[in-house]
Amino acid sequence: METIHRGLNGVNVDTSKICSIDGERGELIYRGYDIHELADKASFEEVVHLLWFGELPTGAQHASLREAIRPSFELPTQVIDMLGSLPKGTNAMHALRTGVSALAAFDPSPDETDLDNLRRIGFGLVGRVPAIVAAFQRLQAGLEPVEPDPSLSVAQNFLRMVNGEAPSPAASRVMDVALVLHAEHGSNASTFVARSTASSMTDVYSAVTAAIGSLKGPLHGGANYGVMKALEEIGSVGGVERFVLDTLASKGGRVMGFGHRVYHVMDPRATILKGVSQKLAEESGDSKWFEMSLEMERVMKREMDARDKQVAPNVDFFSASVYRMLGFEKETYTPIFAVSRIAGWMAHLFEQYGDNRLMRPRLVYEGERGRTFVPIEQRG
Ligand code: CMC
Repeated sequence: METIHRGLNGVNVDTSKICSIDGERGELIYRGYDIHELADKASFEEVVHLLWFGELPTGAQHASLREAIRPSFELPTQVIDMLGSLPKGTNAMHALRTGVSALAAFDPSPDETDLDNLRRIGFGLVGRVPAIVAAFQRLQAGLEPVEPDPSLSVAQNFLRMVNGEAPSPAASRVMDVALVLHAEHGSNASTFVARSTASSMTDVYSAVTAAIGSLKGPLHGGANYGVMKALEEIGSVGGVERFVLDTLASKGGRVMGFGHRVYHVMDPRATILKGVSQKLAEESGDSKWFEMSLEMERVMKREMDARDKQVAPNVDFFSASVYRMLGFEKETYTPIFAVSRIAGWMAHLFEQYGDNRLMRPRLVYEGERGRTFVPIEQRG
């Protein structure tokens, strides 16, 4: 009898020095640093340096990292034209995947997998992924893309290139925290897809394009869109309980933003985002989304406890209300995840290309054997 690990549950495919998750204690560590401390004190750029080089940057390293990212916010005009030619209503993740794939054609050396070239491409993607997301959103709204401001951070530039105006310090900080929280999460579905794709020694653009496709799914990064879609449909705190009960009673009913393969307690990123969401609600006086989220958390806890299931809020749950209060449409939520996760994907690609073995698991065959071939003219 062969052992089968459906969904690769519990399978270790390799070692890694990037990230550690303790699903029982609700602990997340990037390169030895607890996520609570990073969310509190670090910028996204510091986290990129930490993930890629193993250390928080010195002042000089931080400046040179920002210098390396700076020019990459510029997109080839052909890519902007291509984004502008996509039909109205195109899913923003389809657009991002297509845009990143197209970037390979404008890269003079997309295929070399030595570390220097991989880092060069990585710095390019840290700027170009947000630039594509921002440009596409504006083009869909009939607006011109906004030029990057080289003096701004990734979080600030992204907000500016989406909204067309300089972000407030408070909005910039919330964006930075969201980017820090989403930057890395071990062997999640999209990162595994990136590593698996790279393991054939194909190029980084192929690996990242595949990862974006995986992130889009509602069981992964697409869940943040699903959370806001549900909240919008429900409309008020009073409707939350009925929605949750109806969803759970439906076939395969999943409430988006809850549950995780690794965490059996509340995801630490959800704990942090819950605090951010509460603060934004208090400051803005618009508490509707936060209060609906709290009610959903309450009803889900009661229902999951009653069923003896360890299903708690994950990172996508409170990010939905945070992004709404930052002014984003729900269609941009999953792309924001990619704006941040490009950091983690690249860190894993450096590891994968640096010590590669082709990913090639097996499937246990359960089909027929020993059939006799019948020529086509004799088949009924
Ligand atoms: N709503 C209701 N029940 C749930 C949920 C949920 N969101 N999540 C898990 N369960 C139940 C599930 O029905 C199952 O019950 P039973 O054993 O009776 O069949 C039990 O909990 C275990 O679930 P599972 O599907 O076997 O667990 P998994 O590790 O395969 O799935 C998951 C993990 C994330 C796919 C799942 O929890 C889910 O579908 N959640 C909703 C989508 C979501 O929020 N995804 C974001 C994940 S975290 C961030 C990210 O990766 O992007």
